[in-house]
Amino acid sequence: MFVPTMGALHEGHLSLIRQAAGSDRPVVVSIFLNPTQFSAGEDLSTYPQTLEVDTRLAREAGADILFVPGVRLIYPHGLEQARREAAELVLPDVATRPGLEDACRPHFFGGVCLVVGRLFDLVRPTRALFGEKDYQQFRVISELVAGDPDRFGSLEIVGCPTVRESDGLALSSRNIGIDPGDRDRALGLSRALAATTDADDAESARAVMHEILEAHQLKVQYAEVRDAGNLETTVSTGKPMRALIAASLGPIRLIDNTPYEPGSRLSKVD
Ligand code: PAJ
Repeated sequence: MFVPTMGALHEGHLSLIRQAAGSDRPVVVSIFLNPTQFSAGEDLSTYPQTLEVDTRLAREAGADILFVPGVRLIYPHGLEQARREAAELVLPDVATRPGLEDACRPHFFGGVCLVVGRLFDLVRPTRALFGEKDYQQFRVISELVAGDPDRFGSLEIVGCPTVRESDGLALSSRNIGIDPGDRDRALGLSRALAATTDADDAESARAVMHEILEAHQLKVQYAEVRDAGNLETTVSTGKPMRALIAASLGPIRLIDNTPYEPGSRLSKVD
């Protein structure tokens, strides 16, 4: 069982470790702050690093092995070469859907696929757990693995539910940077997602999300309803759908998502 992370562990990460520990297989947790998934202007240098606490938390949650590789083990040919490789990777289609993560962070999924592939090669897990908090990442890694059975064999990618604070804020290592006075604004994401239960179709769901995000003075990067499998733009086809948001609160970029069922409030009342 394998849980890859970038550290600064919180209850979201720990829920994955606990779920992995529920099986009878050894649990490997990796902590690697992966430079190739950050672009020059992003928060790599200020990303929280709390290895000592992480070690204790991972152990308490049920990790058997904590794998904390250095950059040279993951990228033996150096970071420059790794960045080139990441940029040249052929990514699953779900990574490059217009209007989602790739539009905001074009380097991101190259770096994620490069590092996760490398970690899988080193750890050789039979099952790896990812949070649905990063829903597109979960879908991308699922497709990466499904698309290369020669390399990844029968590795199973498991998606785990998003862990939230009691007020609805999805846990994230970046929440540390939220000024207490801005907390209510940060709740705009989960409130916008919750409001989609009142929307009868994807277009009105989108509109209501934008409205709520803007009312919280958040800068919207995207607020979309997509096919939950391939993340293509969808118009109520009866297939599962997902509402996905990225918005920034000053320098902090927040993302969140939830399943979307058109008119679910109405059907619940019926
Ligand atoms: P990181 O942000 O540290 O997250 C590690 C894992 O924890 C991911 O699978 C993420 O989706 C999950 N996670 C984060 N917050 C969560 C929450 N609130 N509830 C449930 N799960 C949550 O994602 C990465 O690291 C990196 O991109 C990585 C995959 C490790 C590659 O570098």
